[in-house]
Amino acid sequence: MTRLARPRRRVSLAGLLTAALLATPLIALTTPAAAQPADAPAPALIPKPASQQALAGEDYSLKPWSVVGVSSNSKERRAALRIAEQLSSQLRRSTGYPLPVVLLAPGVADIKLSTNGPASLGAEGYQLRVDRKGVGVTAATPEGLYRGVTTLRQLLPAKADAKTRQAGPWRLAGTAVADSPRFGYRGAMLDVSRHFFSVAEVKRYIDLISLYKINKLHLHLADDQGWRIQVDSWPRLTTYGGSLEVGGTPGGSYSKADFAEIIRYAADHYLTVIPEIDTPGHTNAALASYAELNCNGVAPPLYTGTNVGFSSLCVAKDITYEFLDDVFREVAEQAPGDVLHLGGDEAHSTQHSDYLTFVPKAAALVTKQKKRVMGWQEIAETPLPAGSIAQYWGTDDARSQELARKAAAQGAKVVLSPANRAYLDMKYDASTPYGLDWAGLVNVEKSYSWNPSTLIPNLPESAIAGVEAPIWTETLDDLDKLEYMAFPRLAGVAELGWSQASALDWTAYKDRLGAQGSRWDVLSVNFFRAPEINWR
Ligand code: ACM
Repeated sequence: MTRLARPRRRVSLAGLLTAALLATPLIALTTPAAAQPADAPAPALIPKPASQQALAGEDYSLKPWSVVGVSSNSKERRAALRIAEQLSSQLRRSTGYPLPVVLLAPGVADIKLSTNGPASLGAEGYQLRVDRKGVGVTAATPEGLYRGVTTLRQLLPAKADAKTRQAGPWRLAGTAVADSPRFGYRGAMLDVSRHFFSVAEVKRYIDLISLYKINKLHLHLADDQGWRIQVDSWPRLTTYGGSLEVGGTPGGSYSKADFAEIIRYAADHYLTVIPEIDTPGHTNAALASYAELNCNGVAPPLYTGTNVGFSSLCVAKDITYEFLDDVFREVAEQAPGDVLHLGGDEAHSTQHSDYLTFVPKAAALVTKQKKRVMGWQEIAETPLPAGSIAQYWGTDDARSQELARKAAAQGAKVVLSPANRAYLDMKYDASTPYGLDWAGLVNVEKSYSWNPSTLIPNLPESAIAGVEAPIWTETLDDLDKLEYMAFPRLAGVAELGWSQASALDWTAYKDRLGAQGSRWDVLSVNFFRAPEINWR
């Protein structure tokens, strides 16, 4: 066993001999009592940190008397205490140890969390050290501390994430990590329109994506099949427009209290919610709810199929912009992040000239709410306000690449969601039981093996805000299916967003990915056991 030298664990030689004689064959007595156990195996971290060094002979094990301490001189004490409490409350469940969270003079806890790190760590960077004295995570901000604690969770045995008490030991390999992200935008998008997902289900998705340092949750809140966010000034959007979903089953929507709960939970996981109201196409749910939004004044029926491109707001009518002004105001009030996504994709039923008229007017209504405009790549065909973000969803096609460059040429940032790599709803292979294949089959290797910097020729690196993995839910009507499509691929896209280009290597990644299987088993994630991965 470890560290008999620790005073509280000292036992008499006689006691030791008796115990050994009772419990073990005699050979055990000839093993040197002071032999160090082998170092714990190097943990397989995803995303791979910027720098990670093994510290031989410096393993640490959580003890029943371990204390989680926040430096009492921490700049952001309250936020740091909250993060400490999140960590402790999970570890209490799995270890059964009390793991009190305490404010301490710097230096005396077993697990020390601090936001007093140098500003050079940046908003999300952190340093983490495990040695025989304990564990320390230091950042310059609460967000950086949270990212570091995410790493700490992966350094612990997978069973540390269990909901119920497990047997120890709770051993961490000695290591020194210094880490910060490659990109500031690392997103996951969830389509709650085609199929509605409850607040509890969204929270579960937040739990899982935050493990991989995703920092943006883009919610696709309105499409042809359903309007999912309460707007008091246009109540039929949800009461009628949100009533169904694909297949005609009952839909649903988030009340203001529900949405506030999602925002709060996301914030606790250091995720910013980016709400999307898709316009001018993908709007049948709104058009069905209010006849006056249609050019002909006639409301179409609710739609529960999976076609795209058949609906459009009426670009010529003033009421269209009164409607959007109200909607963007109420949505902006509910989402404290600085970005509002206005969609803009696949407006196949909007005249091109109308599209060019519409997007700048809609964009101005977003900036009126003091939000940055985000939209799918098509918005780059129109002049964009300063600070805009265009979301690439191409499949290596020249037109999509041109749109990304057009966005950059206007000074907009680009978020990369290549549909043939980052769309989590694409089937893995021909036998995947659900999902789509219009952008091709996307196996785990394909979803990981691309470099954001070189994906689009002649797109300046400085224009790239980051990456996002969307999941569209035409064929995904429950959480099990969502998890099956998202995992393992989401972890790979998360690594592309976080880790340095020099760290990206499929063979090494594949091995680290295999080790996530045991974590996902503990968390009951219904992940796809891709046959090319050695799951363990
Ligand atoms: C999209 O897939 N229509 C953005």
